[in-house]
Amino acid sequence: MSVTKNVYGVLNGTSVHSFVIENKNGTRVQLLEKGATLDKLFIKNRDGELIDVIVGHDTLEGHVERGDYQGVVVGQYANRIKDGKFSVDGVEYSVTCNENGVTSLHGGGEYSSAIWNSEILGDNAVKFTYHSPDGTEGFPGNVDVSVVYELSEDNDLTLTYAATSDKKTIINLTNHAYFNLNGTGSGDILSHTMKINAKRYTPIDEISIPTGELASVAGTPFDFTEPKAIGRDIGADHLQLKNGNGYDHNFCIADYDGTLKEAAVAVADKSGISMTVKTTLPGIQLYTGNFLNGSVEGKNGIPMTQRCAFCLETQVFPDTPNHPLWPTCTYDAGEEYTSQTVFSFDII
Ligand code: GLA
Repeated sequence: MSVTKNVYGVLNGTSVHSFVIENKNGTRVQLLEKGATLDKLFIKNRDGELIDVIVGHDTLEGHVERGDYQGVVVGQYANRIKDGKFSVDGVEYSVTCNENGVTSLHGGGEYSSAIWNSEILGDNAVKFTYHSPDGTEGFPGNVDVSVVYELSEDNDLTLTYAATSDKKTIINLTNHAYFNLNGTGSGDILSHTMKINAKRYTPIDEISIPTGELASVAGTPFDFTEPKAIGRDIGADHLQLKNGNGYDHNFCIADYDGTLKEAAVAVADKSGISMTVKTTLPGIQLYTGNFLNGSVEGKNGIPMTQRCAFCLETQVFPDTPNHPLWPTCTYDAGEEYTSQTVFSFDII
């Protein structure tokens, strides 16, 4: 195993570093200080060729100017908060509404656009840290957050998150990597098979805010309890697929108890690469790149077209601060937030 550090680019006069972790299989993960980004993941396909399964940008300028959360760590509250409003102990907070001026999405982009501090740990891990001052984007608390990316010899990429605040606050951290397991630039992901370990999901209204229902997936396009092609039902006549413009929904992971559980398995038809996602968190968002429309060029100058990638974002349920019965996202002053998500890669 090895970790190497390089200068990736310069932003406002400051060098932004990249890190490459490599294992004995030749699997190579590239990470960036900007947004604590998962930038590249080269892995062998069934023919033994190394392919990059992360869709995104290949310049700092691309990440900064044209990014749509590709590969970044998102916080302080990943996903949506209705009207950007919530209460903690009776105090109402208003946070940045960066989605059409009405909804808070991905914490207003704070954590994902920050340049994080970095530290190499041993020969197979990198730790990123960020300090979010009290009130940034409207969120309470001085929050110290860290994420460690660790690659194993067995092609497990483990993300371990931690955060503490000096004031009671809400926290929801995720990684927003866009995957195409046939390789970036190889077309759409509709023929990947997907299995999601969820009997329920959180339906949304026409502006993607959860209705509050935990609906059964049975008999709907949202039933991924048995593996099926992502594209099989994506065009079905179903209100939720209209509301999301495709899949852009949170699934409630079965048997959630805070320990590491298998949440999803994706398998690519052409490369034979499979990815299993395990997490300690209660939810996972399947987003099928519905808002990508080919107007933005990604790696190698190839336009990022609709459905050229999917995201599996582990999280608490969207808008949890306004649903007190759902698994909590509220942490006392000094109480530590921790979570772990593992992406395991294999060939089938
Ligand atoms: C999340 C959201 C999507 C979209 C993407 C970024 O996955 O759920 O609706 O906003 O982020 O475009």
